[in-house]
Amino acid sequence: MKVTVYSCREFDEERIFRKYGEELGLELVLCPDAPEPGNLGLAEGSACVDILTSKMTRELLGGLRDRGVRYLVTRTIGYDHIDLEAAKEFGITVANAPYGPHGVADYAVMLILMSIRNAKRIIERTNIQDYSLKGIQGRELKDLTVGVIGTGRIGETVIRSLSGFGCRLVAYDLYEKEEVKKYAEYVTLAQMWKRADVVTLHAPLTEENYHMIGEESIARMKDGVVIVNTARGGLIDSQALIAGIEAGKIGAAGLDVVENEFGLYYYDRKSDVLDNRELAVLRGFPNVTVTHHMAFYTDDCVETVVRDSLTGCKLFLEGKENPWRVA
Ligand code: NAI
Repeated sequence: MKVTVYSCREFDEERIFRKYGEELGLELVLCPDAPEPGNLGLAEGSACVDILTSKMTRELLGGLRDRGVRYLVTRTIGYDHIDLEAAKEFGITVANAPYGPHGVADYAVMLILMSIRNAKRIIERTNIQDYSLKGIQGRELKDLTVGVIGTGRIGETVIRSLSGFGCRLVAYDLYEKEEVKKYAEYVTLAQMWKRADVVTLHAPLTEENYHMIGEESIARMKDGVVIVNTARGGLIDSQALIAGIEAGKIGAAGLDVVENEFGLYYYDRKSDVLDNRELAVLRGFPNVTVTHHMAFYTDDCVETVVRDSLTGCKLFLEGKENPWRVA
């Protein structure tokens, strides 16, 4: 039973892959690079392929199909980087490997706190021995209303954690959960824009919610609103976000994800001229904290993702029910 693993990180994933590969009786081909036309040959003879966030186009999926691949698992929760229509057409089953929600939820809470306390400015000043106070006064969560969009596994965990800070909590989702109602009030999006001092995003990116934070929604938000995104870059229109920050409408932002991050994140690109102007502008603002899609990155998440991605392959190969199948 052979599984080809792309984008396998030598410094943290390889050891865990070897451990679970042995436990599950799988023969692994470990490749440090993302799948591309030149290395698809490594998948020859593997029914299962294990990937990270690399864009899986029709061309790549067709190449995998030609080499006998029937199952593709992404070591992520989101799977919007995979052309699901093409996968279906080529008879490739797609699965994800969702780890526990706490790593991302903790990170979202951290970005909220960093944003309302001006942490970026404070750290920058301390680093250059500027110990002045002007311009870095913060706000307290107990005085604020936090709006949580998407109350699935991560959003609900964020709500539970934030409930300990004494802030008011409003929530929006397509489906309401009784458990969440103990801590937060479900509202419409229009009410959320009106009431929330902080908006934190925890919904997957879909055709319906692409750019849900844009010029129009920002105009309806409270002055000085803080926007935190640990979900997907495409939920926010970067141009509108930049305009909102420049106008002072948006008080701060914490962005673990941005539009068009493919090809940048998880690579050392410090010597390169990049073609993502929005990212450069956002990074330059003193009130915007940008991190490189790191929220998931904890010891627990990495172990769980590797284990479950391989367990899914094993179940598929044995023709058994697979809880991680998404398409
Ligand atoms: P989940 O599937 O448990 O929850 C998503 C929730 O969003 C569901 O309750 C769903 O009904 C809701 N939803 C769907 N469309 C919506 C819309 N248009 N408006 C409002 N709510 C909507 O997913 P989970 O595990 O909570 O993950 C949430 C998102 O977090 C993922 O889709 C992924 O994009 C992102 N993520 C980011 C990571 C990072 O490292 N920054 C790591 C893991 C996930």
